[in-house]
Amino acid sequence: MSTDYNHIFNQHWAIYQKILQHDYMGHQAVFGLLEASLVKGFSNRQLDLLDIGCGDAQTLGSFLKTSNIRSYTGIDLSKEALELVPNNVGALNCDIGLMNMDFVAAIDQLVEDKTGQFDVIFSGFALHHVQDDTKALLFAKIKQLLKPHGRFYLIDVYQQEGESRAAYLDRYLAPTLTHWHALDEQETDLLNVHVRSSDYPSTRTRLIKMAHEAGFATCECLLEDPVHSNILLSMGK
Ligand SMILES: C[S@@+](CC[C@H](N)C(=O)[O-])C[C@H]1O[C@@H](n2cnc3c(N)ncnc32)[C@H](O)[C@@H]1O
Repeated sequence: MSTDYNHIFNQHWAIYQKILQHDYMGHQAVFGLLEASLVKGFSNRQLDLLDIGCGDAQTLGSFLKTSNIRSYTGIDLSKEALELVPNNVGALNCDIGLMNMDFVAAIDQLVEDKTGQFDVIFSGFALHHVQDDTKALLFAKIKQLLKPHGRFYLIDVYQQEGESRAAYLDRYLAPTLTHWHALDEQETDLLNVHVRSSDYPSTRTRLIKMAHEAGFATCECLLEDPVHSNILLSMGK
């Protein structure tokens, strides 16, 4: 499984770097709101943070500099991405733990081991790789891994209400064909194939319903960006 993801890493990471560089997916705005919420909600507190589907932690690492991070734990299938994490979170001067595993299995393991409770659990642009039934199970387990005051922040792509997956994919991918000029033809093709085969976004309503069914007392939508199709939810126990 991890071999596949190393292959994907090699093929796709250069593309993701260009997407970040040109802010095609709107990372700057949504991570900026996450940063502000962390500063407001957790001032004067040292944070144990879990990052689900962390990749190389490049973007999150740069938006955590205003928080007081005691420990950072990252989960990702790509070993090569994880090798870059220490460099990207090094400036935070925190303990670093890395789990090179499928995030479903890793979260099961953390729940079973009862080894860690987190102040902040974060997932950025990763959970849309699993379908809603798996997301719902993950939400319930994530809640068990949070300290009483902890919050689960989810940044991900989302589908419009009543929109089919096929319609979402056509709409989401249209600007990659017309406006994402930094990607060459081969990169655009690779991206389109990857998104069409791997993305299963939920709607805002479904995500909020899943949060409540998992037992979260609150689920605030801090951003819904229809242009980039991304959403930021903050869930508390
Ligand atoms: C688009 S990248 C997002 C990286 C980073 N979180 C960010 O916000 O920029 C998605 C990441 O999720 C990881 N991923 C996808 N499915 C996974 C799974 N089932 N278990 C663990 N990692 C997974 C991929 O390897 C990739 O690094």
